[in-house]
Amino acid sequence: MKHLLDIADLSREEIIGLMDEADNFRRALEGREIKKLPTLRGSTVFTLFYENSTRTRSSFETAGKWMSADVINISASSSSVAKGESLKDTGETITAVGADAIIIRHPSSGAARHLADQLDAEGRATHVINAGDGRHQHPTQALLDAVTMRQRLGHVEGLRVAIVGDCLHSRVVRSNVDLLTKLGAQVVLVAPPTLLPVAVENWPVEVSYDFDAEVAKADVVMMLRVQAERMHGGFFPSHREYAALYGLSKERAARMKDTAIVMHPGPMLRGMEINYAVADAPHTAVLQQVHNGVHVRMAVLHTLLSHGGDVAAATAGPSTTESAEA
Ligand code: NCD
Repeated sequence: MKHLLDIADLSREEIIGLMDEADNFRRALEGREIKKLPTLRGSTVFTLFYENSTRTRSSFETAGKWMSADVINISASSSSVAKGESLKDTGETITAVGADAIIIRHPSSGAARHLADQLDAEGRATHVINAGDGRHQHPTQALLDAVTMRQRLGHVEGLRVAIVGDCLHSRVVRSNVDLLTKLGAQVVLVAPPTLLPVAVENWPVEVSYDFDAEVAKADVVMMLRVQAERMHGGFFPSHREYAALYGLSKERAARMKDTAIVMHPGPMLRGMEINYAVADAPHTAVLQQVHNGVHVRMAVLHTLLSHGGDVAAATAGPSTTESAEA
């Protein structure tokens, strides 16, 4: 694996390897006063974001910096993209500046692969990491979600995961369905018919329109943001009706299994998808997801940049703890 573009490109073993490596990084950093490993000293990583982001960009940047890489952030709105430069030219420019890896977020599905194909065709060594492309994929989000489930519930295999809300426009749902089914979890998508993906009957999931029926059965209730920026037209009658049918209210949360957890990729729309108090309750793992995101992104950067994408070699190599002592 030269790039990380799509969960479909990863085997079950590679997924588990990256999750284990994320745990190794967490342990290596735990309790350290100075969060700085020498792992990627001398590497240069660019983030190239054509969409807004708080969590994903800052955690990639933190991941790179905690491993001593130089991290440069480029936002479409403040770069030459705003002057009309193409993705190809921007990618080539960044590579010419000296990028060893480009972490890209883009509103078009397929943009990350397009960039990777262009750079490969020119024989560039630059790694491309997909940080979210349109409705298509967000692989590091699915990895950090799985790490969080494993931390909270001990395993991923056999879990029943209800993914609730705007599945149509969500790249988080696509990456999660791919990853969770590879690891043997059972996924049910809960959404109004207008917010289910086209041809969902061909997906390896169950589908339900009835959140009340599903909430008590799930081990994980993963809420999705309503992606207003990708909606043109009315997908549901009103916010109030959406919240009543598909919001995680206090009453619904009270019907969850005692052991079940609530997840959300963020940003949360409190009061709409999720009740204010439920969002802050102990069974809600949202901030743990964010924290795990840093370690997952360290694992991905380390695997691609130090081991050419060979997950087995990355996990077998000099342990992150050893390199921490270096
Ligand atoms: C998600 C995204 O951008 O796909 N956010 C994130 O990366 N944590 C979900 C969203 O924006 O709703």
